[in-house]
Amino acid sequence: MNQRTKILIVGGGGHAAVILDMLSISKEYHVVGIVDSQTSMSSRLAVPVLGGDDQLPLLFSQGVQHAFIAIGDNQRRKQMAARLTSLGFQFINVLSAHAYISPSVKLGSGVCVMAGAVIQPFSTLDDHVIVNTGATVDHDCRLNAFAHVAPGVALTGHVRLGEGCFIGAGATVIPNTEVGDWVQAAAGCVISKNISAQQKVKGIPAVVY
Ligand SMILES: CC(C)(COP(=O)(O)OP(=O)(O)OC[C@H]1O[C@@H](n2cnc3c(N)ncnc32)[C@H](O)[C@@H]1OP(=O)(O)O)[C@@H](O)C(=O)NCCC(=O)NCCS
Repeated sequence: MNQRTKILIVGGGGHAAVILDMLSISKEYHVVGIVDSQTSMSSRLAVPVLGGDDQLPLLFSQGVQHAFIAIGDNQRRKQMAARLTSLGFQFINVLSAHAYISPSVKLGSGVCVMAGAVIQPFSTLDDHVIVNTGATVDHDCRLNAFAHVAPGVALTGHVRLGEGCFIGAGATVIPNTEVGDWVQAAAGCVISKNISAQQKVKGIPAVVY
């Protein structure tokens, strides 16, 4: 019989609920539980909450050596990735069966692509990138590590997102645009020119605020 790989979900909020939903039909992975000492969702999640981060070394020693970090906040996801990497965990990708991902797309690890998302040819999603529900990433885009594209975003062709960028729900980024590291783009904005690192932008066209 095919033995499924045991995995942990780190983070127990709404993002984790969506990740668990995608994994519930997985033939490859078996979710052992969630690590999050502060989740308020225990009664709604279909798997046990195993405790806080302090449980990670024990769980690893017990043979649960794969994980997915279900934390939407990009800084916190990065910090947690460093912690888990130092403990030896490997990261899985969670890709919805209801997303389209071109075969030429390059994926890092710890990546998630949610239902209704479309990733077009020759794009790259680096480690721990989130492409959320119904977002589109057109051809030749590059999303650097820890970027998060919120529901309904449209990235057109040849867009580059720097590390840790957050693009809010329903925003649009026009072709050939570079968005710097850790930029935060408000929901509904239209990014029509390059944005330098660390800026917050909003509006149509998006301006720094
Ligand atoms: C931009 C955002 C991150 C908030 O950032 P913030 O700097 O904390 O913003 P604040 O709430 O302090 O608001 C600052 C100003 O921007 C305005 N503003 C907030 N969001 C805005 C938006 N999406 N578009 C236009 N203006 C917006 C506020 O009304 C406020 O205006 P004021 O100064 O005239 O009162 C947030 O509003 C947003 O758009 N988040 C996206 C959420 C999302 O997509 N989540 C998906 C999770 S999967």
